[in-house]
Formats: sequence, structure tokens, C-alpha cells
Amino acid sequence: MQLPLGTVLPSLWERAPLQTLLLLSAILLILAQYLKKRRPHLNYPPGPPGLPIVGNFFQMDFKNPKITIQKLTREYGNIYYTYVGGYNFIMVTGLPLIKEVLVNQDNVFIDRPPFPIHFHIFQSHGLIMSNGQEWRQQRRFALMTLRNFGLGKKTLEDRIQEEARYLIEAIREEKGQPFDPHFQINNAVSNIICSITFGHRFDYHDSHFRELLKTLDDTTVLLGSWECQDDIHYSFNEENLVFCTLDLFLAGTETTSTTLRWALLYMALYPEIQGKIQAEIDSVIGQSRQPTMADKEILPYTNAAVHEVQRMGDIIPFNVIRVATVDTKVAGYDVPKGTLLMTNLTALHRDPKEWATPETFNPEHFLENGQFKKRESFLPFSIGKRVCLGEQLARAELFLFFTCLLQKFTFQAPPNTQLSLDFRVGMTVSPASYQICAIPRVM
Ligand code: HEM
Ligand SMILES: *[C@@H]1O[C@H](CO)[C@@H](O)[C@H](O)[C@H]1NC(C)=O
Repeated sequence: MQLPLGTVLPSLWERAPLQTLLLLSAILLILAQYLKKRRPHLNYPPGPPGLPIVGNFFQMDFKNPKITIQKLTREYGNIYYTYVGGYNFIMVTGLPLIKEVLVNQDNVFIDRPPFPIHFHIFQSHGLIMSNGQEWRQQRRFALMTLRNFGLGKKTLEDRIQEEARYLIEAIREEKGQPFDPHFQINNAVSNIICSITFGHRFDYHDSHFRELLKTLDDTTVLLGSWECQDDIHYSFNEENLVFCTLDLFLAGTETTSTTLRWALLYMALYPEIQGKIQAEIDSVIGQSRQPTMADKEILPYTNAAVHEVQRMGDIIPFNVIRVATVDTKVAGYDVPKGTLLMTNLTALHRDPKEWATPETFNPEHFLENGQFKKRESFLPFSIGKRVCLGEQLARAELFLFFTCLLQKFTFQAPPNTQLSLDFRVGMTVSPASYQICAIPRVM
């Protein structure tokens, strides 16, 4: 049970003022020690001058953090250093420097930071937050398992195609009426991870599974609590298997499902582009068979559109946080061990020097003479040794679900409704919930 500090402190004070004073001093000392991180002789990257203890906290404009941050990048360039809430961190912008930290120095910035909770250092398990030997063992095992279960083989593709058929049926049941596609898409996407990790899929009407999907958020809280701590040397045990399964579930469901929800929204907002994709699907595949991964090569416009959804959706704007494991230098500046690293993927995905129309949805960004063109400034899955573990799976899911859906439906705004690109910030940047109509293309 959590008691608010405001009620605990006065009652402690009444009972034992001296002990409480000592306790408070101890807490302050620990805090001061923890925050005393800036070493005067080092050449830190530029950044706003911070205040002791609270750092740049008071310089943040909380009503409009975006503007403050834009000012920081403008004033201090492609790398700035700041400290907020006891953490020193650097924000790195621009492809050359991002490659420097995530690829060239991937052994330096390989770890995830530990976060102190209840003054304990949270011992992290699983895949996303683990480090060192444990992370290496579990990542290798997870990748091997994904491959054994058919990643990059026909079996997994079959599974996604089968799930796409269930998804199409579920959407057909909406009979072209306005509906929020969140639930069906989430269920379809999580079923892919479920069939890999648990060996079976769940029906869209399964109430237990609905409950599970609803409690995913609570799971995030549980994962972050120090009660999950234990002492592991050899990381293969039942508990860690549960952590890793949960991590695959957490990392693999919301991300892919959010991207697909952006995709449907962009289709309804850009009917001409949707029409071009459908024309390509009709001429290459037709209606008599389901799209396969092999079709990706011969559907360049559709493939480009999927990439463009990811570029515009930009669902993980500052990447997943890393930490410097040793003292290092970036762009000539000293970056001490323990500094947190964020990389600005938004800046990359909206760079006016890289993209013809950076703020507008435009599949041409990924096309050259009608052929698909890879772009270096496109890193939604990050890069380097700790790159997204599910990239290949996510790409297969996005392409197949998207193509199968557009083969069968036209997505459009409900009558007299204006759809918007309003977003919500949670684990990912996702579209604000919306209603859409899925008009069947053939009866
Ligand atoms: C559109 C879908 C997805 C996007 C945009 C995405 C993006 C990312 C990003 C940016 C990272 C951080 C990488 C880094 O620190 O450099 C990451 C990590 C991760 N992703 Fe994904 N991801 C997606 C789908 C998936 C799927 C389907 C799975 C499940 C198999 C998955 C599993 C993971 C795991 C386990 C990690 C942690 C890897 C590690 O720390 O070693 N992701 N993802
Ligand atoms: C990331 O880059 C974008 C585009 O340059 C900028 O608007 C934004 O403020 C940057 N974010 C941070 C946190 O530096």
C-alpha cells in the first residue's frame, strides 16, 4: 500500500521528532551524493547551466516543454547535455552523431540505465531493461527461439496471413459502420506473439484475453516495482522466462498495433494515396489470393507507403534510453560513465534536408523511378547491437496486415466527420482514439 508522504511525515514527526530529523538528513545526504555528478575538470557538451540538486528542472517550461526543448537544440546544436531529476543526460541529433553513439560506440552505450525506486536499485530482468551477461544470454535465446518458430520462414508468414483473415472477418462484421479499430488490431497483433510464446491464438471474443490486454498497462507498473527484485546469476529460470515473454508481449504488441492504427488513419486522410495502393494490389495480386511476403518486391508503392506510415507515425521519438557504461567522448566532448543517452529520431524522420515534404504524408519519399528506395535517415527500429529485437517480425506483420486490409477494404472518415492527427503520448506516440468506416471492396 502506498501512503502519501504528506500524511506519513507529520505522524512520524509527532511520534519521534529526532529520529525523523535524522531520517530526513540521511535521505538528503544520499540525494546530494547521488546528484553530485558533474566533475569540474571535464569538457562537457554544451547545455544550459543547471542549478545544484534540481538541475535544469526549473528551467523547463512545463506548460510548453516542446518550445524549451527546441530552444535547447537551436542554441546548443547536435549534442546537448543537461541534468533533470538527478539524471545527467545527453540528447544526440543528426545521422552522423547518432551512428557514432549507436554503432561506432555500441559497446559503450549498450546498457539500459537502472532506475532507483524506493532507494533501491532496481535489478532488471527480461530483455528490454536487462544488461550484461543476462541481456546477452536472453537476447540470443529470444532471437534463436523466434527463428526456430519460423521468423523468416514460411510458418510465421502463414500464421500472420491466417490472423489477417480473422482480422478481415472481424472488421467485416462492422458492416461499413463507424467503429474504433483499436481493439481488433490490438488483438490481431498480440495473437502473433501469443502463438509464438504460448503456442496458440485467442479468439477476438475471448473475455479472458480481453482482460489480459486491458491489464497490460498494470503489468508495466508491476515490472517497474522493486518487489520484482531477486538474485540471479544464471539467467535461465522460470521467472526470467516469464519476464522475457512479457517483454516480447509489451514491446511487440503496442508498437505494431499503434503503427497499424496510424496506417488506417493516413489512408482515410489521403484517399488518393489509398487508391494508388489498391490499384497496385489489384493489378499485381488481384482478389483471388492473399498477399505474401514475396509480393513486397513487386508492390513498391505499397511497401513505400508502409515505410512512410512509420516515418510520419514516429512512435518512439527519442528512442529507448541507453546509458554510458564507461567514460567516453562524443563529438570531442567528455561524456562520463552513467550519463543517459537519448537520440532524437523525430529530428531524423522530419529532417528538411532529407525529405522532400517532411511534414506531409508522401510515399514518394521511399521511391526512385518507381522502385523502392531504402533511406538511411529512417531508423524507427533504432540501429546497432541493441536494435529492436523484433524488427523482422514487425516488418512482416506491418506489410502483411496492411496489404491484406487494403485488398479487402477502403478506409474512410465517418459521414460528416473530420479525422485528425491528434495524438496521445504513452508508451508510444499513438493516434487519439478515432472512429473509421471500413467499406468492403468486393462482396
Ligand atoms: C513497429 C513496431 C516496432 C517498433 C517501431 C519498435 C522499435 C523499437 C526500438 C526503437 C527499440 C529500442 C532499440 C534501441 O535501444 O536501440 C526496440 C527494442 C525492442 N523491441 Fe521493438 N519495435 C517494434 C516491434 C517489436 C516487436 C514486434 C517485438 C517482438 C518480438 C519487439 C521487441 C523488442 C525488444 C525485445 C526490444 C529490446 C531489445 C534490447 O533491449 O535488446 N519490437 N524496439
Ligand atoms: C528533436 O528534434 C526536433 C526536430 O529538430 C525538435 O523539434 C525537438 O525539439 C527535438 N527534441 C529534443 C528533445 O531535443
